[in-house]
Amino acid sequence: MEDLFSKFDPLIKQRTDLLATGVTDPFSLVMERVLSPTVAVCNGKETILLGTYNYIGMTFDPDVIAAGEQALEDFGTGTTGSRVLNGTYAGHRAVEEALKQFYAMDYAMVFSTGYQANLGIISTVAGKGDYIVLDIDSHASIWDGCKLGDAEVVPFKHNDIEAMEKRLKRIPEGAGKLVILEGVYSMLGDIAPLKEMIRIAKANGAMVLVDEAHSMGFIGPNGRGVAEDQGVLDQVDFVIGTFSKSVGTVGGFCVSNHPKFEILRLVCRPYVFTASLPPSVVATAATSIRKLMHAGNKRAHLWENSRVLHQGLRDLGFQLGTSEPQSAIIAVIMPDLEHGAGMWEALLHEGLYVNLARPPATPAGMTLLRCSLCAEHSAEQVQTIIGMFERAGKAAGIL
Ligand SMILES: Cc1ncc(COP(=O)(O)O)c(C=O)c1O
Repeated sequence: MEDLFSKFDPLIKQRTDLLATGVTDPFSLVMERVLSPTVAVCNGKETILLGTYNYIGMTFDPDVIAAGEQALEDFGTGTTGSRVLNGTYAGHRAVEEALKQFYAMDYAMVFSTGYQANLGIISTVAGKGDYIVLDIDSHASIWDGCKLGDAEVVPFKHNDIEAMEKRLKRIPEGAGKLVILEGVYSMLGDIAPLKEMIRIAKANGAMVLVDEAHSMGFIGPNGRGVAEDQGVLDQVDFVIGTFSKSVGTVGGFCVSNHPKFEILRLVCRPYVFTASLPPSVVATAATSIRKLMHAGNKRAHLWENSRVLHQGLRDLGFQLGTSEPQSAIIAVIMPDLEHGAGMWEALLHEGLYVNLARPPATPAGMTLLRCSLCAEHSAEQVQTIIGMFERAGKAAGIL
């Protein structure tokens, strides 16, 4: 019998070798208690969180918590069913209304995760005979959505406008075309030149889907994302987003102005064949989204945090993913996995949690320490973080 697990042997060896050096496993940390959006207890020690996607810090908002508690009492713990059968409660409709208002769009469809939103929309919209043109650094859920559908998939070099145009022009006349882009690319924290890319996509007869998972609530005058910031949101056919980042809970969605959008509820398998979100989750999401509409001050403070941390780390001599801060994500490039894991552990000893990212999730085989800031990080916390990076960088032999 061929052991079907033998394909994992190289990864098992890499992991065993890494742990044999004595380093703490960076992929099995437990948050023993969470004290606020920016502080948790890990290994019995208070730790500043710099590796969550809690960009606006909504997870402990009193109104959001109260809405969840009320829904739990009024509607119970779960729907135990699909959105198209017994799983649509008043709260699911309410959160879709909140999304329509947030984005000023006609239609909204809520999924159980952002992963499923990409899986569902991409595989349902682009079918056999259609073409998907997408950035090579797209999130795994986008790639998996392509795999689930039957369209031809044509990747282009990250953020390369010309490469995208060339591929679009090669598609046979009359074929359906979907261009898939992200507002913020979460590994390096860089943004896409959406204005130019969307202009070209439209000029070549393509529909456009933009995943704004990491920009919602933060980027753009109303927090609608990079497409809003660059003045092209009205050109986007489908915006994909998640409740697991700025919204502060779990869930995913697509908003659109397409007049036939509602039919997707009947044909989109990752929407139909799974249970809907619990009532408490949709209640917290709706309350959070409505508060994000008025979060201008938090957005401004988050930008300030991003600028200060980026400058501070650059001044220390770290190599960063972007030359200037473009989002709430700042990626610190490590020389290799061993140094990355060592630095990650040294930061944890300092009392700081960041995300360690490594191939295949990362572009160009890089090992990254990804820092994601929160609007609830105080200016003092950001300075403390910079000091921790300096000490850990020296301890781990990076600086
Ligand atoms: C760009 C992007 N799209 C989609 C997702 C999936 O979101 P969710 O956590 O809601 O499944 C993520 C999450 O990491 C993401 O980074």
